[in-house]
Amino acid sequence: MELEEFKEIQRQMWEEGDYRPVGRLIEPAAQILVQEAGVRAGQRVLDVGTGSGSVAVAAALAGAEVVGVDITDAWFDEAHGRASAVGVKVDLRLGDAEALPVDDGSYDVVLSSFAAIFAPRHDLVASELVRVCRDGGVFGITAWTPDGANNAVFSTLVELLPSPPEFVTPSILWGDPDHVRSLFASHDVALRFERLKFTVTFRSVEAFESFAFENSGVLIAARRVLQEMGRWDEAHAAMREAMDLTNEADDGSYRVAWDFLLTIGTKAA
Ligand SMILES: C[S@@+](CC[C@H](N)C(=O)[O-])C[C@H]1O[C@@H](n2cnc3c(N)ncnc32)[C@H](O)[C@@H]1O
Repeated sequence: MELEEFKEIQRQMWEEGDYRPVGRLIEPAAQILVQEAGVRAGQRVLDVGTGSGSVAVAAALAGAEVVGVDITDAWFDEAHGRASAVGVKVDLRLGDAEALPVDDGSYDVVLSSFAAIFAPRHDLVASELVRVCRDGGVFGITAWTPDGANNAVFSTLVELLPSPPEFVTPSILWGDPDHVRSLFASHDVALRFERLKFTVTFRSVEAFESFAFENSGVLIAARRVLQEMGRWDEAHAAMREAMDLTNEADDGSYRVAWDFLLTIGTKAA
């Protein structure tokens, strides 16, 4: 598969389902990212892979002038609506994390919550995050951790899916500090890492599954491919087992703490 075809399939995947409730579910990480990056009034902030705007709106609420970019504009209306509901504005544009449509050094803070990690070529993403950040500016990324509960559950599906093209580096590696260090090794940046988590709770395992497979475009696409391969039942059973193992509730509900790695980088002044 060629790169452009891969990107088009990714874009369509992110447009499937209804990202809006998924964005609200993982919003705690967006709030933490904005806070940890120290976003202040008057700063220029870029939100890479803005989706339905959780990071963009939180940064605008902190008083920043915010631009959000994403490979799809499917959820921009939602992001604009969320912004206007709290009395702020965000400027949203189409754009790819591997080739950001903004000038060198044009942002004080560059953020990406569970988004730029999905671009296939991590070294290009790292270079772009540094390029668009001003000297002395800050960038911040959140990513699921390889040994966390989120990956324990969803890797059961990934493992049975066809291997991605060779130009793809798996997004989960952004959750490994050694990998992130290697991506930025040739840049003049200081990195700090923090392993954090937030808890999600559903009425039951089944309720979580319904939520996930009705709304998440990535999961809807994964299930479709596994069904076409005749491996859905096997994948589903493995996923259920992982959900039971990671469930912290003992009252029939589903409660799980999702670990993520926060990377904060500072570009040399
Ligand atoms: C899991 S969502 C996260 C959205 C948002 N940051 C949030 O916290 O809710 C991933 C987002 O990244 C976007 N995305 C995926 N690959 C991208 C790329 N190469 N460049 C820009 N955005 C991308 C998707 O379209 C999607 O909106």
